[in-house]
Amino acid sequence: MKTKQLISPGSVVRRATLLAVLGLSGLAVRGFAGVDESVDALLTQMTLDEKIGQMTQPDVHALTTAADIQKYFLGSILNGGGGGPTNNVPAEWLKAVNGYQSWALKTRLKIPLLYGVDAVHGHNNVNGAVIFPHHIGLGATHNPALIEQAEHINALEIEGTGIRWAFAPCIAVAQNERWGRTYESYGDSTELVSELGVAAVRGLQGETLADGTSVLACAKHFIGDGGTVDGIDQGNTVCDEATLRKLYLPPYQAAIKAGVGSIMVSYNSWNGQKMSANKHLLTEVLKEELGFKGFLVSDWAAIDQLGTEYKTDIEQSINAGMDMVMIPYGPGQPNNFVEFIQDLKELVAEKRVSVTRIDDAVRRILRIKFAMGSFKNPYTDPALTAAIGSPAHRAVARDCVRQSLVLLKNEDHALPLSKNIKHLTVVGQAADDLGRQCGGWTISWQGETGAITRGGTTLLTAIRSAVSPQTEVTYSADGKNLTGADAIILVVGEMPYAEMKGDRTDLSLAPDEIALIQKAKATGVPVITVLYSGRPQVLGQALTESDALVAAWLPGTEGEGMTDVLFGDFKPTGKLSRPWPQDNSQLNSAVFAEPGQPPLFSLGFGLTYENSKNLSATRTTLSHD
Ligand code: GLC
Repeated sequence: MKTKQLISPGSVVRRATLLAVLGLSGLAVRGFAGVDESVDALLTQMTLDEKIGQMTQPDVHALTTAADIQKYFLGSILNGGGGGPTNNVPAEWLKAVNGYQSWALKTRLKIPLLYGVDAVHGHNNVNGAVIFPHHIGLGATHNPALIEQAEHINALEIEGTGIRWAFAPCIAVAQNERWGRTYESYGDSTELVSELGVAAVRGLQGETLADGTSVLACAKHFIGDGGTVDGIDQGNTVCDEATLRKLYLPPYQAAIKAGVGSIMVSYNSWNGQKMSANKHLLTEVLKEELGFKGFLVSDWAAIDQLGTEYKTDIEQSINAGMDMVMIPYGPGQPNNFVEFIQDLKELVAEKRVSVTRIDDAVRRILRIKFAMGSFKNPYTDPALTAAIGSPAHRAVARDCVRQSLVLLKNEDHALPLSKNIKHLTVVGQAADDLGRQCGGWTISWQGETGAITRGGTTLLTAIRSAVSPQTEVTYSADGKNLTGADAIILVVGEMPYAEMKGDRTDLSLAPDEIALIQKAKATGVPVITVLYSGRPQVLGQALTESDALVAAWLPGTEGEGMTDVLFGDFKPTGKLSRPWPQDNSQLNSAVFAEPGQPPLFSLGFGLTYENSKNLSATRTTLSHD
């Protein structure tokens, strides 16, 4: 089996150029050429049970035993956020996933299983995996080659656990920062999201799914997940079709052209109709108009939201074009995966779902499995397991951190700090908290505070290793001991959250954090504020009281990427991937189109060390599409 080599940004650019020159970006990357004969030959042998099994994706915890995979001819399983093996180490992941695969290969037709996982900023469920900055930080890099490289590392770590399907990239064009998933979006610019989404697909899937070691990407959540009224998660996106096509469709068009093999259908509604039952968009637009040849997977129990009767939910969703259904529940629970199989069989018998529709769904799923070479190689290369969390992988994530930081203020050259500073005081609980540094979707679904994963470096640890041996570093989490500091680094920001748990109408920094900054300011020494957040925060006095302010987003495990910039080994190059609101009345990007409503900082704003002398925040006038 050919194992993937770590690629340098240069080779990524060369490769993309080659593909563009060959004009094969669609075909070659798509990797579907030449598999349809195999698909059709297999499809004709399949029973209805075997076909429906391919369309059924239970959560691993819904299985009674792994033998259910053989019993029900299951084509896919997943684990939700934090749902991996109890002993959360890579070797145990590999053993568990290979065990599930072995049950699929016991079936009559030996159709390999596709195990799916939310590896949305690195292989974030796995203890010891490299955790990259969340998408809002990667968006601030504006660097597709870097993102392709990062997702290539992600793919290697995913394969190191036996898995070859990531529910990533999220290509939401998030319009309202009240949305708890704003950090999963690269930004509010359709163009930027399209460009970076393609880079992520290429990084995960490689040049073609057929190279035998690619990880299937899953563009999500189709469509309009980031455009709901008031940023309500799983809410209702209200706009005409022209606006939907202008704002939210281009990233999917680009991802399909880049060969994305799966697309996840969103929970949200469009003008009151749930996406999971929208035949016009799922079938007529995605599959017919855009020529999407991969398969559509539902979100977590999303079809259950369609109505009050599960069998009708299934009928509406499958007939709309859903090919695989994600089912968190097992026997003994309502709307469980066994019920799904039985209901769908009845719907076919009652001619409420046609065999043609079933065959189309199964053909799409099998096409991907053949294109990935899974029939020939159902297992990944075990040599990849040892590289999970390796220094080489962490180096790429560290570069992502460096390039994601956005310098919003730098009065009187407060930054960069000297490594020979005599006494540096670090303030804020988050400064020594890997969980706060990583945010949601890390080890657990919601994320949590504390030393949550192995191998990471907190900002405090990174500072201690960055400064000279003569430097005294004092850590005062609560800011009570600021005596003798020559400068203060102060970390504030959001606590970890994911999805609807992060929906907020007030993005103001906490009063106690503002008070900390004011207290630090009162010492008279330079105050460098570092902000961990999944979205812009309403800064208020945090900006006026800080001498320098760095938006670090949710940087992940590689804290040294921050000290590389804070101590001047690298200049800040990050540029905002979305405008920064002045206050809570500006959380919806649409407001900036109104007269007299400039943001505090525009899309594309970011200082560096040359242009930051004595400048307060100046507004750039980058166009906001
Ligand atoms: C979640 C999310 C989706 C994720 C899926 C599986 O609810 O909406 O992004 O891929 O369920 O965890």
